[in-house]
Amino acid sequence: MATPLHPDIDRVLISSAQIQERIVELAAQIDRDYADERPLLLVGVLKGAFIFLADLARALTIPHAVDFMAVSSYGMTATSGAVRIILDLREPIDNKHVLLVEDIVDSGNTLAYLREVLTSRRPASLRTCALSTKQRPDAMHVPIDYLGFTIPDVWVVGYGLDYADRHRTLPYIGALKPEVYR
Ligand code: IMP
Ligand code: MG
Repeated sequence: MATPLHPDIDRVLISSAQIQERIVELAAQIDRDYADERPLLLVGVLKGAFIFLADLARALTIPHAVDFMAVSSYGMTATSGAVRIILDLREPIDNKHVLLVEDIVDSGNTLAYLREVLTSRRPASLRTCALSTKQRPDAMHVPIDYLGFTIPDVWVVGYGLDYADRHRTLPYIGALKPEVYR
């Protein structure tokens, strides 16, 4: 039986099964790439990445530690303007291979900012992993080393992603009905 769709959801873009399948592939790739790189630190960007990070980390077989950062945007909308650190890492990263784990890259602002901040702390290496990115021709060009999915430029929720802090725990990534956020 199909999972009943939440009434605020227009359509499912990525099913739970598709997400899990992709995570297995990404984890295998990360396992290979970091086989000789120790120590590995996964840095999840709160809140959105908490579910993706939990699943990705458990799919890895190589040793790793986990930490979190939280950021907030200054701009008029949730995805524009300058970025501010709300929660920082607990320890220095100068001897660590850091993999930044994001839920979604939209304008690219957040990821670009975090890359800059972490690079200035001189980690042994820094790469980025994002579950998804939007098809936006105007987005900043930020390298994403491990990318789950490319999605259309619509507001999505579920699997950690929210609208006004709602819908994070839906098992799939779905497009919100426009009347919900208009
Ligand atoms: P940026 O525009 O790439 O800086 O994206 C900033 C942040 O906005 C992302 O890390 C997400 O947390 C959030 N975001 C962007 N697009 C969406 C979306 O469609 N749904 C939920 N959160 C989003
Ligand atoms: Mg985020």
